[in-house]
Amino acid sequence: MTRLVWTSLLGTCMVLPFLQSYEQERPQNGAAPQRSTAMGVYSREQWMRGRDVYAGQCAGCHPAVTHVGPIFTTSWAGKRLSDLFGFIRERMPKNDPGSLSEEEYVDVITYLLRLNGMPVGLEELPADSATLSRIRIDSSRVAPPARPDGR
Ligand code: HEC
Repeated sequence: MTRLVWTSLLGTCMVLPFLQSYEQERPQNGAAPQRSTAMGVYSREQWMRGRDVYAGQCAGCHPAVTHVGPIFTTSWAGKRLSDLFGFIRERMPKNDPGSLSEEEYVDVITYLLRLNGMPVGLEELPADSATLSRIRIDSSRVAPPARPDGR
């Protein structure tokens, strides 16, 4: 009897962590597990802040147009926003990687999305890796690319 209790207790302990991580990974609303950049995942104010970050911290080495079109889609289409965020945060600015705030990095990413014609939405994209990892970069339905000044 005692043995049986211990066995089932042990069994519960081993199963619980798996159940919990399953719960956390489930999409909150039960709908599609992922969003995509085609849905408008950043706001106008945000990409305009990102444009200023880019002008101040990035344009000295490469102009914004170098991130537009096939250069961008070949590397990033189908990937997650967390991949793009991670790449830029870990490697840029090339002379001082990681030197910007999380908010500046996420703002500058929305500027790159804007340049590549990904639609603008109403809410800001949060600098939160869990959220970013659930958003796929979708370049299949885009508006005409914006000029670097966004007009
Ligand atoms: C000191 C120069 C320098 C600065 C400043 C800089 N970069 Fe770069 N960047 C480079 C170089 C050189 C490459 C080529 C790839 C490599 O060496 O990693 C590159 C590559 C990239 C790429 C991948 C290639 C492409 O065109 O898509 C992205 C995206 C990028 N940089 C974004 C940024 C952003 C955003 C900033 C500002 C936060 C920034 N860089 C600041 C030098 C710089």
